Amino acid sequence: MAENILIDNRLTKEEQYKQILPQIKALIEFESDRVANLANIAAVLKEAFKYPWVGFYILKGDELVLGPFQGQAACTRLTPGKGVCGTSFSTAATVIVPDVDQFPGHIACSSASRSEIVVPIIKEGKVVAVIDLDSNHLNDFSTVDQEFLEQLSILISARW
Ligand code: SME
Repeated sequence: MAENILIDNRLTKEEQYKQILPQIKALIEFESDRVANLANIAAVLKEAFKYPWVGFYILKGDELVLGPFQGQAACTRLTPGKGVCGTSFSTAATVIVPDVDQFPGHIACSSASRSEIVVPIIKEGKVVAVIDLDSNHLNDFSTVDQEFLEQLSILISARW
């Protein structure tokens, strides 16, 4: 059965986050399978915001390994401390990159990517994964994305 998620693309970005976050919470609340939950979250974010790439990198050993995502095939393994994801991981902080060409060490999984936001998922004080969104437009992410994606990160952390 398809999950019945209400997404209204006519709303502002902030309104859309407010519309989808409670639905994501309900979607993952009673499901313990991490891959299933992250896959559904990537699908909802993709449908809501139409970004070319949304997904997760998960800490496995000493690398960040590609998790559930929506978009083109991407780099499989990232190194903590390197690139946008690795920087967010190592600093345990959200990183907003208005222009990826200006970010030293940005790892280009797609040449069309122009801006990016990465939000850490923190469990018991340790970063266990990151949420990564890529846009084909410059300066496409703001503190609105940061605020709501950090709320999403807390929801995910609660089910980790
Ligand atoms: N640009 C990221 C790599 C992951 S892809 O964008 C999906 C980075 O610099 O870490």
